[in-house]
Amino acid sequence: MAERGMRNSGTDPRETDSYRRGGEKAEESSEKGIVRPMRIEDLGSVIAIEQVSFPTPWSIHSFATELRDNEYARYHCLEVGGLVIGYMGLWFILDEGHITNVAIMPGHRGRHWGEFLMRSVMSKMAMEGMERMTLEVRVSNDPARRLYERLGFKVAGRRKGYYVDTREDALIMWLEL
Ligand SMILES: CC(C)(COP(=O)(O)OP(=O)(O)OC[C@H]1O[C@@H](n2cnc3c(N)ncnc32)[C@H](O)[C@@H]1OP(=O)(O)O)[C@@H](O)C(=O)NCCC(=O)NCCS
Repeated sequence: MAERGMRNSGTDPRETDSYRRGGEKAEESSEKGIVRPMRIEDLGSVIAIEQVSFPTPWSIHSFATELRDNEYARYHCLEVGGLVIGYMGLWFILDEGHITNVAIMPGHRGRHWGEFLMRSVMSKMAMEGMERMTLEVRVSNDPARRLYERLGFKVAGRRKGYYVDTREDALIMWLEL
């Protein structure tokens, strides 16, 4: 099972096959990724990625509120060469992780940084006692769906017209860690 593989891969995502794939690409330009908790100082970079990634981007205020006031929020940044090129947020409720957002800067997409970021966060969260994760994804979002399926997420349902901006349906996906 993919999920067992993730947990057995240990805390260092560099031990995973997926990282080695991404790492090989990254080594061509001497890039190494670091996944670490998001800080208020990151929000300028985060919002720049957010604005080019989503039809209805969150405001900087929304991110700041999450970081400062939401005890369930866990937000991480992916830093490469000293630059924040991606981030992922979730709410850790009981033993479940509800993913709120994940994005990679456009010029860095398709190189498995999204996979590296998500596997790193999943590994950290599993160590904190998280047992399953869920997310919603637009039906038309092929890159995201391919990434989630590769990580072992399974479609568990569909919300009709969930996205108010385009009235598009959402697929609900779950993963057992
Ligand atoms: C979804 C997202 C985070 C994936 O990040 P990423 O670093 O590109 O992810 P990966 O490289 O690990 O995997 C992307 C997969 O989609 C595929 N893909 C297809 N078209 C792509 C495109 N235009 N750009 C990037 N990947 C694409 C890749 O080939 C890869 O699949 P494969 O390994 O089976 O070939 C990124 O595309 C993004 O930030 N999108 C905008 C925000 C978003 O939609 N977030 C998800 C909300 S639910």
